[in-house]
Amino acid sequence: PSKQRLLVVANRLPVSAVRRSVDSWQLEISVGGLVSALLGVKEFDARWIGWAGVNVSDDIGQRTLTKSLAEKRCIPVFLDEEIVQQYYNGYCNNILWPLFHYLGLPQEDRLATTRSFQSQFDAYKKANQLFADVVNNIYQEGDVVWCHDYHLMFLPQCLKRYNSNMKVGWFLHTPFPSSEIHRTLPSRSELLRSVLAADLVGFHTYDYARHFVSACTRILGFEGTPEGVENQGKLTRVAAFPIGIDSERFIRALELPQVQDHIKELKERFAGRKVMLGVDRLDMIKGIPQKILAFEKFLEENPNWRDKVVLLQIAVPTRTDVSEYQKLTSQVHEIVGRINGRFGTLTAVPIHHLDRSLDFHALCALYAVTDVALVTSLRDGMNLVSYEFVACQASKKGVLILSEFAGAAQSLGAGAILVNPWNITEVAASIGYALNMPADEREKRHQLNFMHVTSHTSQEWAATFVSELNDTIVEAQLRT
Ligand code: UDP
Ligand code: G6P
Repeated sequence: PSKQRLLVVANRLPVSAVRRSVDSWQLEISVGGLVSALLGVKEFDARWIGWAGVNVSDDIGQRTLTKSLAEKRCIPVFLDEEIVQQYYNGYCNNILWPLFHYLGLPQEDRLATTRSFQSQFDAYKKANQLFADVVNNIYQEGDVVWCHDYHLMFLPQCLKRYNSNMKVGWFLHTPFPSSEIHRTLPSRSELLRSVLAADLVGFHTYDYARHFVSACTRILGFEGTPEGVENQGKLTRVAAFPIGIDSERFIRALELPQVQDHIKELKERFAGRKVMLGVDRLDMIKGIPQKILAFEKFLEENPNWRDKVVLLQIAVPTRTDVSEYQKLTSQVHEIVGRINGRFGTLTAVPIHHLDRSLDFHALCALYAVTDVALVTSLRDGMNLVSYEFVACQASKKGVLILSEFAGAAQSLGAGAILVNPWNITEVAASIGYALNMPADEREKRHQLNFMHVTSHTSQEWAATFVSELNDTIVEAQLRT
């Protein structure tokens, strides 16, 4: 049978474009959990619809970029600079993102943000409408339309207005916060109503799904049922679908000669030292300053470890036009500089901080040589870095220290050491515990995590969501 057509709609396309000349483009793989997970989805005839991360205001540019994206089965949505500023930098990343991660509005410009709220929300709706227009243009009967993330909460409603028969799913890759937090959003009701226009709404964990249903009952007065949210006989299915990774891809990569070479190089480079690793977008939700301060405390309290351990922190620049992210960057640089000054010697520093992304193979090699991975997110929808680390540890069986506030804590909690990232004393003690852990305990913990990561893959995640969406629609037709 021919594969079902799947239209994946997300703000960020899996490739981001860099302009080389008037009519030529370079496409680079985008960084982020959403893109990583969806790249592993192969059993559908999938097309991507999204923003290529670049402003293209001229006809030639739009035509040529559309053409080169088509080779990757991607269809661009063009957003002008003003919209990107108000919708992406503003409403999405300065308002929704911190709020959904329980960080509140940025302290410093809280009032300014409050004042510009309405204009940013208008831009958000306008941007979502632009996505809907593109989807509507390529939509064919029978297609499944799968909308992703907090950027596109307004999209389900726009799509259903075009065509009430469209099969529409929406999935959130961040936490959905307690209804008490969502309640503070001036646009709280409009966003919920629009999401409810979808046929199926999915979250990473049961808690997020429950928070969403509570928000709908408390704020909209709709009925919450075990299946989802009901309003005047219309049911929107709500459920948890924990995401995974394409674990085979990582396991296979470790066998490649260039990755093996890289592993050898890294082992020589850090011989005699234990390697600790952090891999994050440079985002305030990742708790990078907290992680580094905990590492400092560990060095402070354990002088014998000072020349025997190194922390490699990959911090991929992200959303660099948003001032909160700029502030975080300088804050992290300052802390790293201070600690390296304090504990460094002429020949070695305790923290290697890298402000850029790594390619897939380099990343796999790093995961493989790591003794202890440190994931200290203050909140995180799932956190795929923790899964990727586990997938690459079949021979080393290193330890995962994982924030209890990452969605992954609910799936890797048995094998990882769970910590509260705000409690630096606890994290420092966990670092000591992890570095000294006997081999048999490491092995046991690794095995639990490895089993989970290799049996809950991104392929399965997508297949489950789409089949549930198909079923939901059949059931709805039976009810009427
Ligand atoms: N990643 C990458 N290159 C890098 C660093 C990270 O491709 O240099 C990828 C990483 O492999 C992972 C994703 O970025 O798949 C991060 O996903 P995660 O869920 O951990 O966090 P998010 O960025 O979505 O908040
Ligand atoms: C998170 C979000 C994704 C986003 C990614 C990278 O994973 O859930 O929707 O694509 O971060 O952020 P960016 O703003 O660069 O797309």
